[in-house]
Amino acid sequence: MTHSFLPAPPDHVPEELMVDFDMFDIPSGVEDPAEIWRELNRRAVPRIFYTRHNGGHWVFMDYDDIVEAYRDWERFSTHYAVVPPIEPFPVMQPQGVDPPQHKVFRSLLAPLFTPVAIRDMTEELKRRTVMLVDKFADRGHCDFIAEFAAQLPTGTFLHLMGLPEERLPEFLKISDVFFRSTDEAERQANAMQVYGIINELFTEKQANPAEDIATLLVQARGEDGELLPWQDKLDCAFLLFVAGLDTVTNTMAYVWRYMATTPQARATLREKLDDPSELLLAVEELLRINSVSNLFRRVKSDMDYKGVFLKENDRVIMPNTIANRDPAVFENPETIDLDRKVNRHVTFGVGPHRCIGSHLAKREILVALDYWLRKIPEFELASQMPEGNAFGGPVMGFKSLPLTWKV
Ligand code: HEM
Repeated sequence: MTHSFLPAPPDHVPEELMVDFDMFDIPSGVEDPAEIWRELNRRAVPRIFYTRHNGGHWVFMDYDDIVEAYRDWERFSTHYAVVPPIEPFPVMQPQGVDPPQHKVFRSLLAPLFTPVAIRDMTEELKRRTVMLVDKFADRGHCDFIAEFAAQLPTGTFLHLMGLPEERLPEFLKISDVFFRSTDEAERQANAMQVYGIINELFTEKQANPAEDIATLLVQARGEDGELLPWQDKLDCAFLLFVAGLDTVTNTMAYVWRYMATTPQARATLREKLDDPSELLLAVEELLRINSVSNLFRRVKSDMDYKGVFLKENDRVIMPNTIANRDPAVFENPETIDLDRKVNRHVTFGVGPHRCIGSHLAKREILVALDYWLRKIPEFELASQMPEGNAFGGPVMGFKSLPLTWKV
């Protein structure tokens, strides 16, 4: 019999810890999906509560608990932690495995994403940014997401994996279905399509090795010198697709939406363009306040966690947007202070699974801000966001962001 990680019914949850909350449900009229999390604070829900929605899961509301769940992999596992629970589910490498096994793929990828390695990618990111912005700068308007924020990380992914640039339109379509479809069958078929493309790519790289991540994965061997399992390698490339596209797209969408509605922020950021360390501080603050990911964990075995009984296989959600606005950790947490010096935000997670791509993500945002604000210093929202434009879930964001400016 195969082992199941499905959670038990919530008979162990006391009524006072039950809250009616659906992380995927953005009520009509709500433009910013993170509002549904902030609403929980206004409702003064318990700091650890349970919701029956999406297969049933706990929510941690305090920074300290969220950080503890990130760090304590012996009690809070990433393996089969998805919400709603699905079995079978791809075990993404290295995100879906706990230490110590997780270091096999983590140590393969980490050297490719160090600050130095990413600094060397700056020119490539600039080239892509210029190409995209110059297509619409003289037009005076664009859909920021379709024409920029989705394109930059997807093009960068193709580049890193060694996939040809001509496949960008195909990949944009695939990732749109992958990240936006709510049809289970369509999503299933789409994931199979992504795996099919990666499999084909790996086969091609076996015959024609090159300087790219696909080749590195295909050739990767374990400590004993044996080639690592093919399926694990596919799962690792799949994770890069899942982790590195929509997160960057929606973080940028949040940042540009904020700039479009806040003239003072545009002016402050423009002043910082020639001072890289000041600009980086500002970007850290933009990342703190615009944290798009809500991560999952699975309780490994029954435990008493700070007086709350958590049962084996219970799911836990850690909303970064709540952690990053915890008044116990951040001074004036709701104020966007582009000069904030101490900033222990958890936008990229903490602990063993901390984001491998954080330097790349930051570099993409820095390069994009730099070129955009010089080329299009003033811009605003073209219209009110249409109904249904915002979406919630593990990554929150917007389907479109129409911007306009004077030419
Ligand atoms: C603003 C953009 C991004 C955000 C907000 C973000 C957020 C995160 C978070 C919170 C985690 C921790 C997951 C966990 O603890 O379970 C993570 C892990 C990861 N991220 Fe990112 N990420 C971003 C961009 C990227 C990019 C551009 C890449 C790669 C090209 C990437 C690759 C990864 C990988 C491989 C992991 C798993 C690391 C491990 O399990 O050891 N991310 N990311």
